[in-house]
Amino acid sequence: MSEAVLQRKLARAEAKVRLLESLIEDKTRELYLQTVALKASNETLERIFDAMPGPVLVLDEHLVVQRFNRSALKLLEATPLLLTGLPATRFFPTIEASVARVDVEGGAVMTEAEWRLEGPALPVLATLARFSDGVERHVVVIATDLRDRKALELELRHAQKLEAIGALAAGVAHEVNTPLQFISDNVDFLVEALTSFDAFARRIEEAAPGIWSRVSEEPAFEELPFFRERIPKSLGRVKSGLERVTEIVRALKDFSHPGGEKAPVRLAPLVHRAVTVGRHELKGMDVQVEVPEGLEAYGYESDLNQVMLNLLVNAAHAIVDRHGDATLGRIRVFVDGGPEQVVLHVQDNGGGMPPAVQARVFEPFFTTKPVGKGTGQGLPICRKLIVERHGGRLWFDSAPGEGTTFHIGLPVAAAPSSGATHEPTRRAAGG
Ligand SMILES: Nc1ncnc2c1ncn2[C@@H]1O[C@H](COP(=O)(O)OP(=O)(O)OP(=O)(O)O)[C@@H](O)[C@H]1O
Ligand SMILES: [Mg+2]
Repeated sequence: MSEAVLQRKLARAEAKVRLLESLIEDKTRELYLQTVALKASNETLERIFDAMPGPVLVLDEHLVVQRFNRSALKLLEATPLLLTGLPATRFFPTIEASVARVDVEGGAVMTEAEWRLEGPALPVLATLARFSDGVERHVVVIATDLRDRKALELELRHAQKLEAIGALAAGVAHEVNTPLQFISDNVDFLVEALTSFDAFARRIEEAAPGIWSRVSEEPAFEELPFFRERIPKSLGRVKSGLERVTEIVRALKDFSHPGGEKAPVRLAPLVHRAVTVGRHELKGMDVQVEVPEGLEAYGYESDLNQVMLNLLVNAAHAIVDRHGDATLGRIRVFVDGGPEQVVLHVQDNGGGMPPAVQARVFEPFFTTKPVGKGTGQGLPICRKLIVERHGGRLWFDSAPGEGTTFHIGLPVAAAPSSGATHEPTRRAAGG
């Protein structure tokens, strides 16, 4: 080969290399740009995932958590370290059944569930679906926090319950009142008539000494002296029984009165009324009310009626639970407080609460009582009424095996618009 031919071949080869080099350079740049774009889009997706207002979790085939967004962390009050690699059954106990439904029904499945990791139980609406990334199959879970909705439902149910009970109680009180009045009038008439008969008998004895004893010794009238002595006493007992029934009916009527605006509420009659209405539960117990006449708090009377009744009934249940015998029960209602706040205390010698119960008593629907005896709505409602509606405080001290004291801190007067009420210094276990 001649020199010239060789030179030409070399030049062609060099040109090819240059072309290839520039091609590689172009491809590399393209790849680089694609990688950058991919990274950016990945980051955007990640950000969208994190910014989603609802909790989202991605699980693998074995329902182990792979990914989650910030909302999910917040809802479960978990750290990324705790949640990564955690079997979802740990906080979502019924997930397996729900995923089975997804496999049968296909598409997305919605289910109401109760999640619990470390904190309290969380009512959620969980939507589950399957997807595949080409390599593996996954389950995606989107949750809706139902706590607010449940709280609203609770409130509504409570309002309806109160309304129904109030209407029933007012109706019964009204119905009972009429015959009560009628019986009472007739008893008064009998007392008057008997007094008059007695005076008449005495007058006859005076006019004809010995006649009364002679006649009353006849066999047919043998029991007359006994009747004469006993009838007034017996009527006296009928009268006091009637007075008690009248008092209960009046308490029931006042208690179920829907009440209107916030106003000064006299505490002594309020406590006595709750004791009267709760009489059935408190039967046999020694209930001491040490509330000065004239002491007032500022608030809604019907709310405070409810709170007092629930605390008394809770105390009575704790007493029966501990002693089995109501006559060993002691409940004391007393007060203290300062010029801005009055604190009502309801103290019982019931069984007290272990720390695990103490931590949960204000949770809606938490109860240690059997079905039919408790619904676990009492204390959450009391807290709502005292804290939210009155700007007051509700807390307690409890010693297992010794008893419990609930404290209600209430404003004495309408708060000035900026006025923060003075907080009592005892241990706060709620409020
Ligand atoms: N005085 C108390 N002594 C001991 N335990 C109490 C006392 N008060 C409340 N508890 C505990 O707190 C739980 C919740 O009380 P709460 O009043 O909210 O509901 P409940 O009494 O169980 O039901 P409901 O009031 O709806 O009828 C009770 O089940 C009980 O375990
Ligand atoms: Mg209760």
